[in-house]
Amino acid sequence: MVWDHVIKNGYIYTSTDFVKGNLYIKDGKIAAISEMELEGEAKKTTDAAEQYVLPGFIDTHVHSRDPGATYKEDFYYSTQAAAAGGVTMIFEMPNTNPPINNVENLRKQEDNLTPKAHVDFGIWGICLGDLNMKDIVPLHEAGVIGFKFFWGYAINSQTFQLMYNYKEGDEGVIPPLPDGEVYDIFKEVGKTGQIIAIHAENNQIIQRLTKKVEESGRRDYEALLEGRPNLAEEMTIQSGIAMAKKLGTRLHILHVSTGEGVELVRQAQREGYPITSETCPHFLFLNNEDYEKIGPQMKVYPPVKYKKDQQALWQGIQDGTVSIVCSDHAPHTEEEKDGDLWSIPAGMCGVETLAPLLLNAVSEGKISLQQVCELLAENPAKQFGIYPQKGSLAVGTDADITIVDMSKETVIKRENLHSKSKVTAFDQFPVKGIPVATIVRGTTVMENGEIVSEPIGKMVKPVANSEKVICSL
Ligand code: DOR
Ligand code: ZN
Repeated sequence: MVWDHVIKNGYIYTSTDFVKGNLYIKDGKIAAISEMELEGEAKKTTDAAEQYVLPGFIDTHVHSRDPGATYKEDFYYSTQAAAAGGVTMIFEMPNTNPPINNVENLRKQEDNLTPKAHVDFGIWGICLGDLNMKDIVPLHEAGVIGFKFFWGYAINSQTFQLMYNYKEGDEGVIPPLPDGEVYDIFKEVGKTGQIIAIHAENNQIIQRLTKKVEESGRRDYEALLEGRPNLAEEMTIQSGIAMAKKLGTRLHILHVSTGEGVELVRQAQREGYPITSETCPHFLFLNNEDYEKIGPQMKVYPPVKYKKDQQALWQGIQDGTVSIVCSDHAPHTEEEKDGDLWSIPAGMCGVETLAPLLLNAVSEGKISLQQVCELLAENPAKQFGIYPQKGSLAVGTDADITIVDMSKETVIKRENLHSKSKVTAFDQFPVKGIPVATIVRGTTVMENGEIVSEPIGKMVKPVANSEKVICSL
């Protein structure tokens, strides 16, 4: 046998354990895993002694802004950043220009992204209410990874772009959708059996409270939180869960930022509903007190809240309520982020720092390496219907592999990031435990921090019905 690549002597993740052994790759697939050395020649050999061989990490929440605001980021850059951070697959968000609101735009998007893709990718479809209700089922059939609904966001009626700082009465804008229309979105997505993922912030609360604090002239972070309080997230999650329960829709709560949010999801899961949630490193590793040091780079929607929320999110990870950690990679330029707290856009880079930050949490004893494999690989793949092709090291599946060195230490430096924008809240953050190789369907894309391959990424579509899979979570 001639193996394409043999990874030797690593601690290989088995889904329940780590075993020391060798992993054999042939034709882009995992061909064998063995504690003994198998016969044959190897075209490439990697010595992974004292390193961990893990299922390729998946970042389910990335805004590469391609096509659209490609001066901030594009897929060539974001997928290099992904590979540099040990991520073998990203799910690309649909608020591009044009948005992924119908099958034609989905097909064009696959053609646009593929030649730039350093890692594999799924593509989200967007829900715009009545504007694309008829496109939901066709988008499902054409292979979107899930459906995203920006609940509470106004949309530019020409470009369908999100309005970050929308004010009631703004012109050329589709205001946030009324609940009746949202109910119909849930119903329509429910027909597909796929996930509806919601950005959960109640716009009416935000409009009213923000106006008051803004008028007071305050520009401090506390003012931002008074205008966008925990209650805004709590109310939307509550409505979403109520609708999902009624309609049987699979609901996923994006970037949960509050303890109230975690508790609502926990309750719904206890009652047996297929409701899942994710959070992001900025909610796990930062709280409002960090604003003084970090400044406007830290502004995201929903905003980073309080220490008690941070603790509740960790608790949610420990008991499984929060089953995915993703980056919400949302780059803006330095100039855009440098300004008045009220007017600058929300979002920061994250796809490259996601895994190092979580691996550092392993080094600090906050979570186990097994939990990282679940949060970054197994759970996303299972929930979105691409397991075990993705998210596992099972023989016969795609050779998507992240090799990690838990003894390696570094400091995150903004200038070293591979994304076009370098806006991060984690500049100068020391981390222990870093990805040293990223392998996508057998091709080594990153080695020791360097991108070593041309774009080879492909679009991945979920298998038709993943409902059975989600029950095993
Ligand atoms: O902070 C954010 N940035 N939150 C969002 O919901 C959108 C994102 C973006 O696209 O910039
Ligand atoms: Zn987002």
